[in-house]
Amino acid sequence: MSPEEQRKYMYRTLELAFSSIGLTSPNPSVGAVIVRDGEIVGFGATSPCGGDHAEINALAMAGEKSRGAEMFVSLEPCCHYGKTPPCTEAIIREGITRVYIPLVDPNPMVAGKGIMMLKNNGVDVVLLNELGDYAADMIRGFKKSILRKRSAVIHKSAISLDGKIATLSGDSRWISSSLSRYIVHRLRATVDAIIVGKNTLEKDNPSLNIRLDEFEDSISTFFDEKRWWYSGRNNSYLENILLGTGVSREKEPLRVLVGLPQALNFRMHFFRDDNYVVFSDEKHSTQLKGRDDYHSIQNMLDNGNLILYTGTTTREQIYCILEELYRRGVVNALLEGGGGVAGSFLDAGEIDQFMYFITPRILGNGISPMNASGYQSVSEGLTLRDISIIGLETDVLYTGYSEPYLLESM
Ligand SMILES: NC(=O)c1ccc[n+]([C@@H]2O[C@H](COP(=O)([O-])OP(=O)(O)OC[C@H]3O[C@@H](n4cnc5c(N)ncnc54)[C@H](OP(=O)(O)O)[C@@H]3O)[C@@H](O)[C@H]2O)c1
Repeated sequence: MSPEEQRKYMYRTLELAFSSIGLTSPNPSVGAVIVRDGEIVGFGATSPCGGDHAEINALAMAGEKSRGAEMFVSLEPCCHYGKTPPCTEAIIREGITRVYIPLVDPNPMVAGKGIMMLKNNGVDVVLLNELGDYAADMIRGFKKSILRKRSAVIHKSAISLDGKIATLSGDSRWISSSLSRYIVHRLRATVDAIIVGKNTLEKDNPSLNIRLDEFEDSISTFFDEKRWWYSGRNNSYLENILLGTGVSREKEPLRVLVGLPQALNFRMHFFRDDNYVVFSDEKHSTQLKGRDDYHSIQNMLDNGNLILYTGTTTREQIYCILEELYRRGVVNALLEGGGGVAGSFLDAGEIDQFMYFITPRILGNGISPMNASGYQSVSEGLTLRDISIIGLETDVLYTGYSEPYLLESM
């Protein structure tokens, strides 16, 4: 098979992976394609958590045509018993002769063992190294969460050209264009949780849901006609957000609030149902007893909707949040601000990806996107890696990561 064809099929696996991203946590979202005589005879994506993996779905579609065929998978097939039996067993049993993968699974339970299992059973394995970084963008959050047992964090912010996320009075609606906000709703569909700070809740009363249908048709036409411009490193996650592969779905990310308001207002959108958690720095629930709304607070504590930080330093508090979210199955969390909370996550070294929508407005004085401790010198500051820049008519989406992915070698 020619390198162009190999690339084409691997790109297809990544589109499939993206179509179920945000639905498979804590598992990674993977895509698989089975090719026989130059034709796709089966394809699949990971089913929502606990369901079949992409390879099994693709094999089921191909049926007898799997025998003697080649498989492309966006991540090394698993070889251990989890909620489902190992994919390697099914691949061997169904007679696949060659498996192409771009990446070794970062999960220590797999990490090269899937490849060995296939090879030891006569299945040829081809590692498409040149697509490794591109494919890794789809599972960066999974890598962090499986290795560090903390959710991965994407910090999203709409920022005026002079670097502010709101005016001094706290007004921020809307700094960015409809095109940018449409992307944010697509982005929300890929994550398991959305985090905001106490001031943002009180100022904006945000819904933190996915509302693609609120935007005019002209916006989806912009994306259908691919009228954005793209510069920098190709990134499979960003490209699929732009292409919108399968993002119009019914799901509600977990709503996460950092900081307990002085008085709870259950009419706010944030509290509309039970799918939320609040983190508070009150040291003991006894300190909350004097409040008028103590009964509600006690209910929230009993139901797991209110968590009191363990630890006192910023780092300990942020770890408490991300470890608790990980326990609740959150792989990727979208940190939507404001500046106070984002600064704490930066100080704790826990922002993994940055997505800043920079817009042609000047606000003068205002709220900074990042109220962090800061650095003595520019050289100490965080330099982002793997930068991509996307032009959205008037706005620019600037993205990057705090660390490179670091591909494992085999
Ligand atoms: N343009 C955008 O993309 C965007 C996005 C979101 C928000 N905003 C705007 O940003 C503004 C709010 O930002 P903000 O910086 O004032 O506040 P914020 O980050 O929303 O909330 C900060 C507050 O949360 C509480 N908190 C509790 N635990 C914390 C912790 N570990 N780290 C940090 N804070 C913690 C603190 O309240 P206490 O001090 O009372 O404990 C702190 O003052 C609003 O005007 C909103 O409209 C803009």
